[in-house]
Amino acid sequence: MTSHGPLSGKVAIVLGASRGIGAVTARTFADAGASVVLAARSEDALRALAADIEAQGGTALPVPTDLGDEASIEALVRTTVARFGRLDAAFNNAADGHMPAPLAKLSVEDLDRAWRINVRGFFLAMKHQLTAMLASGGGAIVNMASTAGLQGVRGMGGYSATKHAIIGLTRSAALDYADQGIRLNVVAPGPILTGRIQQLPEERRAPIVRAVPMGRIGTPEEVARAVTWLCSDAASFITGTTLAVDGGRLAGA
Ligand SMILES: NC(=O)c1ccc[n+]([C@@H]2O[C@H](COP(=O)([O-])OP(=O)(O)OC[C@H]3O[C@@H](n4cnc5c(N)ncnc54)[C@H](OP(=O)(O)O)[C@@H]3O)[C@@H](O)[C@H]2O)c1
Repeated sequence: MTSHGPLSGKVAIVLGASRGIGAVTARTFADAGASVVLAARSEDALRALAADIEAQGGTALPVPTDLGDEASIEALVRTTVARFGRLDAAFNNAADGHMPAPLAKLSVEDLDRAWRINVRGFFLAMKHQLTAMLASGGGAIVNMASTAGLQGVRGMGGYSATKHAIIGLTRSAALDYADQGIRLNVVAPGPILTGRIQQLPEERRAPIVRAVPMGRIGTPEEVARAVTWLCSDAASFITGTTLAVDGGRLAGA
């Protein structure tokens, strides 16, 4: 851990930190000098990650949180400010519902569940984070979308709609707070090597790799570095943008 890293002295929340891209980003934030609040539903995973970060010399606080529940989100932000006195950065990364189905076969229950986490949950997270950041004198929020938030994806209309909505919410909030010291941006990864893709058999993974101009699947670390940069003061004139981390995939879309 470093006392002079790009997030040195900052207090950051990672929502969806129990595994995958969120867990790697939480470690990267801590390496960059931030005090990191780890949020997701899986308490044991959060505790294990916090212990690991602390063992490396970092500062981490696990706060079990359900993005489907406003009281839980409000408590996450309140606990953060009570423990660290401020909130400077937030990475809203959690998602529910991949829902592979052509539109006529997509169930309204699946769509509602995904909307509740990916859109309503992100709205509530931003609402409470923004209130805390205004009190802290500014901050930076990065919301997780996907290349599926910038283009249609066959058989994934439900997921794609929630990711488009995250981009719309973020861009509008960026305008609302641009003159109040709070920057809001989006990262839109292409395929990244976490649980779902790791479990795919080779014949299903091959076409995913072929669709990436760089010819490979990205790593969680590559997303984490982009998010860390967007949260840092190095990105001080950047707000309302969507940064693709996709090996060139959208360049040809
Ligand atoms: N992997 C990819 O190829 C890829 C590509 C583009 C975009 N993305 C996006 O990147 C993000 C992370 O992807 P990933 O592959 O790392 O996913 P993952 O391994 O499934 O992790 C999802 C995270 O979200 C949390 N979460 C889910 N529901 C939650 C809820 N109700 N309340 C709080 N936390 C909740 C999970 O924690 P708990 O289950 O412990 O709550 C977990 O920490 C997602 O938004 C995904 O759409 C991924």
